[in-house]
Amino acid sequence: DEQDLERHFEHTIEKDQRIEPRDWVPEGYRKTMIRQIAQHAHSEIIGMQPEGNWITRAPSLRRKAILLAKVQDEAGHGLYLYSAAETLGADRGDLTEKLISGRQKYSSIFNYPTLTFADVGAIGWLVDGAAICNQVPLCRSSYGPYARAMIRICKEESFHQRQGYELLMTMMKGTQAQRDMVQDAVNRFWWPSLMMFGPPDAESANTAQSMAWKIKRHTNDELRQRFVDMTVPQAEALGVTLPDPDLKWNPDRGHYDFGQVDWDEMKQVVAGNGPCNTERLARRRQAHEDGAWVREAAAAHARKMAEAK
Ligand code: 3HC
Repeated sequence: DEQDLERHFEHTIEKDQRIEPRDWVPEGYRKTMIRQIAQHAHSEIIGMQPEGNWITRAPSLRRKAILLAKVQDEAGHGLYLYSAAETLGADRGDLTEKLISGRQKYSSIFNYPTLTFADVGAIGWLVDGAAICNQVPLCRSSYGPYARAMIRICKEESFHQRQGYELLMTMMKGTQAQRDMVQDAVNRFWWPSLMMFGPPDAESANTAQSMAWKIKRHTNDELRQRFVDMTVPQAEALGVTLPDPDLKWNPDRGHYDFGQVDWDEMKQVVAGNGPCNTERLARRRQAHEDGAWVREAAAAHARKMAEAK
């Protein structure tokens, strides 16, 4: 009966074992898993826009090929994650509607403009770097399909991060104007990258429950700290300064102290008032409408195939 099912679920979580699609789960677990996986997928798909903006204007064929491969990977991550959400009973058409109508979220980071080609490097180094910090622990998330999707995605993210860092390193070996362009991109993407980890734990509505169900393995603040500690030495090797005067190694803590994130800015961007929110959703809506004929044709073809059997 239900008590036995609940006990089996709790027991599986306790023993760090995987919950699979056919297993009974509490309704709250299903809901929060669909919420997180769907919004993760939406982030991947919307994330194609800022970088895609530079595919036709990449400075060399090599950079264009790398950027094409990366943007294509993001689409694949989105499809992977929508498929994981479907194993929980979600419908990808419904999830897309929720994204387009603003009833579901995507990562705030993609609401900032990509003004120069150095931004492509800053996104690879900082945004994909933050994503890796967040996604590696998710490989041990309690929901099987999500955790397994993360293993493949993390491998590709590390290519994304390395190509971004190499792009910036190349520019830092260039002219003063190129070095200034890199510093400007870092100045604009540093704080928004810290916002990717979510609000402070004390203000996070979902963290406690997500930790109890081992959906999350670390809290927002723990992962944010891990990202800062990892990135500061990389910034030094690159020769850029991070735009935070309070950034300082704290030997007692064994971590870097850093300044206050502008949580009001994050709330504004998440609420839809960021620099590019309107444009991002309009593009996504347009792409969905432009693709309607493909979906109808595929459905008609599938019906024909089924009748022919
Ligand atoms: N942008 C938009 N919304 C955000 C956000 C951000 N940076 N940070 C938090 N939120 C939202 C949460 O979704 C939640 O709203 P909801 O209840 O309506 O979903 C609310 O703010 C409160 O935040 P919580 O910390 O309570 O929410 P979570 O426990 O879900 O933590 C999270 C937020 C850390 C993003 C977590 O959902 C998570 O780890 N998600 C998986 C990773 C992910 O989505 N990454 C997106 C980054 S982009 C990416 O990975 C693509 C890569 O190619 C760069």
